[in-house]
Amino acid sequence: MNNTNNMSNWFLRLAVLYLIAGVSLGLFMAASHDHSMYPAHAHLNLLGWVSLSLFGLFYRAFPKAAQTGLAKAHFWIYVPSHFVQMVLLTLLFRGYAAVEPALGVASSLVGVAILCFSFTVWNSTRRAD
Ligand code: HEM
Ligand code: HEM
Repeated sequence: MNNTNNMSNWFLRLAVLYLIAGVSLGLFMAASHDHSMYPAHAHLNLLGWVSLSLFGLFYRAFPKAAQTGLAKAHFWIYVPSHFVQMVLLTLLFRGYAAVEPALGVASSLVGVAILCFSFTVWNSTRRAD
């Protein structure tokens, strides 16, 4: 990712894909009256659409931050781990209880990526300008 806004662009592009997935599942739940998948719906929308959009807008506002190793770790840990987390969460609520340990690993990696992001935000906002 060499161009300054590339990371921001990819976060925003992936965010709307999660919005489509989250809203589609919401419409399916509403139409079928089967709300059992609501945790997958909630986290597709909140860890997907909402969080990825905020990451994208942050790296837009602080383009230098996107150049750091920590920001790259944030992107490359968050995006695959969150994707795996959503697939496993969906399987869990379809009755595949055996995915739970792997879901725990994927969710913990999402937590690690969030720490990378949090350090990046603190580092980038140290000065008022
Ligand atoms: C057309 C769009 C949407 C539809 C049809 C829809 C539908 C639903 C339905 C049927 C539920 C289950 C309600 C329940 O059983 O308590 C639900 C829960 C939820 N939705 Fe959506 N949703 C939509 C968009 C969104 C978006 C865009 C977000 C977030 C940005 C969102 C966040 C949530 C959350 C957090 C819950 C869980 C709430 C709780 O714990 O009670 N939804 N949604
Ligand atoms: C690695 C990150 C996360 C993990 C492991 C996680 C885990 C969970 C769990 C276990 C629940 C209870 C689900 C249930 O009712 O059975 C839950 C609920 C909820 N979480 Fe998260 N969460 C994470 C991140 C987030 C974030 C970043 C947001 C908001 C931006 C969020 C918003 C919610 C909401 C609104 C609910 C209530 C709706 C629901 O039960 O699905 N979560 N979360």
